[in-house]
Amino acid sequence: MMTTWTNVRHDFPILHQQVKGKPLVYLDNAATAQKPKVVIDALSHFYERDNANVHRGLHTLSNRATDAYEGARAKVARFVNAADSAEIIFTRGTTESINLVAASWGSANLKAGDVILLTEMEHHSNLVPWQLIAQRTGAKLRYVPVLGPNVEGGLDLAALDGLLTPEVKVFAFTHVSNSTGTINPVAELCAKARSHGIVTVIDAAQSIGHMPVDVRAIGCDFLAFSGHKMAGVTGIGALYGRRELLDAMPPYQGGGGMISQVEFFTARWKPSPERFEAGTPNFADAVALGVACDYLDGLGRDKIAAHDHQLAKLAYEKLATLPGIRLLGPGLGQERSGLVSFSFADVHAHDVVTFADEDGIALRGGHHCNQPLMRKLGLTGTTRASFYVYNTAEEIDVLVANLRKTLKFFGA
Ligand code: ALA
Repeated sequence: MMTTWTNVRHDFPILHQQVKGKPLVYLDNAATAQKPKVVIDALSHFYERDNANVHRGLHTLSNRATDAYEGARAKVARFVNAADSAEIIFTRGTTESINLVAASWGSANLKAGDVILLTEMEHHSNLVPWQLIAQRTGAKLRYVPVLGPNVEGGLDLAALDGLLTPEVKVFAFTHVSNSTGTINPVAELCAKARSHGIVTVIDAAQSIGHMPVDVRAIGCDFLAFSGHKMAGVTGIGALYGRRELLDAMPPYQGGGGMISQVEFFTARWKPSPERFEAGTPNFADAVALGVACDYLDGLGRDKIAAHDHQLAKLAYEKLATLPGIRLLGPGLGQERSGLVSFSFADVHAHDVVTFADEDGIALRGGHHCNQPLMRKLGLTGTTRASFYVYNTAEEIDVLVANLRKTLKFFGA
């Protein structure tokens, strides 16, 4: 199975280079994934042939660009199995999508005394926007705890029922933790929230390009994701929202494209998605995102998930043999996403990452935008290896050999 996947490497031009005289081993995919040539070419092709502003012109190029942009929206809708393209709003990425929900839905629906339920494993992008709207509305934040000194138990689901009190109006949680590799039971969480009339928001940044994500099977109200972690380009992502909720929400930003009529003192809005896409949208990157969806579906998202999980399991097993290592997240035999996060008592994560770079290996070290979780675990940060479709078992061996060398250097 691994052998067939090595063919995928040919699709990614960036991988065929040396770093510090060694073949690049790119294991920083949770931060951003590399782009296949079809996506890079789609972007150049758009700028070389079709570029014009969308929804505004009556000329050929503008119509072509509009068709390509709306075609990309339809592809993204199919990719997440939305009922309707109007439920897909293009944004800059996960962060902007969550800020949009928090600011727009939050300002219309939250008041003093309400509770916003989050989890202790949220990325800052699914935490700070809620802090901001809580400050504006007087709502309070509440957290589902994580279990175990290394979050090996995931979310404390037994505690959830007691946390879903009548004051809770929204429950926002990540699908996959970017710092532990935990895969949350999102359909179960949504079903519980729904039975209490609570709106659900899913941060799918780490799951969208790695496994099938079906908003209707999951049963969420909103789902946010970025293009650049799923073989798309940077600067584009999407928010899925249930039509009924979107149509009742006020605009997030004002400007051209989102209005049906403007007077000097008032304006009326278009329905979704235009209502939430003020100004010239990022149409070229959206077109490339549509191509990324096609590319991933061509590989098969079930197969991508199996490949990622197999690499993560292998990495976990091999890393566990290193002296003094502390591994976060699900243990062996438990399901985990395609990343492994770890720390050493006597070697700082930044040193581990710097020494890895000497061997051409790209890792991420730090708090991974999870400062509260790291603090709870008594860590300042971890080193993270994250995998994608082009990574191989051999690359894990290169990583483990490098880490042994680093530990030896520091006498750990
Ligand atoms: N959120 C991205 C990461 O986990 C940047 O690295």
